[in-house]
Amino acid sequence: MNRLVIIGAGGRLGSALVREWGKEFDVAGFNHAQLDLGKPEAMRATLGALQFDALINTAAQTNVDRCETEQEEAFALNAEAPRILAEICAGKNARFIHISTDYVFDGEKREPYTEEDEARPISVYGKSKWEGERRALEANDRALIVRVSWVFGPDRPSFIDWAIGQAQEKEEVNAIADKWATPTYTLDLATLLRPFVGAGIGDPGKEEKARTEKAGITEPGYNLSYGGILHLANGGGCSWQEYAQWAVDCCRAEGIPMKTTKIGKSSLAEMKSFIAKRPVYSVLSSTKYQALTGTAPRPWQDVVRDFVRRKYLEGRALSRPVN
Ligand SMILES: NC(=O)c1ccc[n+]([C@@H]2O[C@H](COP(=O)([O-])OP(=O)(O)OC[C@H]3O[C@@H](n4cnc5c(N)ncnc54)[C@H](OP(=O)(O)O)[C@@H]3O)[C@@H](O)[C@H]2O)c1
Repeated sequence: MNRLVIIGAGGRLGSALVREWGKEFDVAGFNHAQLDLGKPEAMRATLGALQFDALINTAAQTNVDRCETEQEEAFALNAEAPRILAEICAGKNARFIHISTDYVFDGEKREPYTEEDEARPISVYGKSKWEGERRALEANDRALIVRVSWVFGPDRPSFIDWAIGQAQEKEEVNAIADKWATPTYTLDLATLLRPFVGAGIGDPGKEEKARTEKAGITEPGYNLSYGGILHLANGGGCSWQEYAQWAVDCCRAEGIPMKTTKIGKSSLAEMKSFIAKRPVYSVLSSTKYQALTGTAPRPWQDVVRDFVRRKYLEGRALSRPVN
């Protein structure tokens, strides 16, 4: 059985990967308290002593505004730590998968960003994550860097939980209507990333080679076994306001009581509490992913509906008294 290490096991994505992949692999998860990305020597000692076939790093300083004021910390956790992890994996001939972000882009485009688009981060968070990608690939050219966007799931609250909570409690709720990306479900990421974990080390298989050749992919960095940058998000794109509206629509369709049924529109410029600049548009194209795997991620609307059912309906059903 393959042995996996997952860093960030207490986070939104890391928790989901530990649970889902734990059904198939022998998984060792490390949360913040168990492994601090800010302590290189401890990382080397802990991971150096372990045997594993693949390591997935989901941990990061994800507080975009904090990164603006704590730049040194941002670069230590988001840029230097991935380099060290990549190096450790290279030394063990283990697969290294590192999660990065749509915030490496400036957001000036108005069509989905591909892996070939130039990264031009506009925040310290984006710069530190981009630097992490570069350092990881420099230390380990078989590292797989997976850029994701608007991650949500059952293990840790995010924007969608806030939006539904507000709509359940208040008569009026607004959300930003002039910033676009794609909500991406942690449980789908667990399924979609799975082929890359199992692909492990060595030459890609015949079938995979044929598929990548057919797709016109010739770079050695792009197949299930080797490294490079890969964009992965659920399908389509939307604004925060559309995301919140659809979440509320799904709740209503399932009979969940809502005080607000219509989410109003606000603008990014009104968000005075934001310290960091955010890209206005950061929808990611998963075309390359589809070419590699033959699988298309589901539309974001489908996964939001699944999330609502799982979290709000199944949760309610479970807590209902048995009579
Ligand atoms: N969330 C999004 O919308 C989004 C969008 C694009 C990309 N991403 C990327 O996706 C990945 C997963 O994000 P997520 O949503 O799962 O974030 P998350 O829930 O904030 O998880 C990040 C984890 O990193 C841990 N962490 C922070 N500092 C650490 C340190 N010094 N040492 C060890 N662990 C530390 C956190 O632990 P504590 O909480 O205990 O500190 C947390 O469990 C990240 O790489 C992020 O950059 C996320």
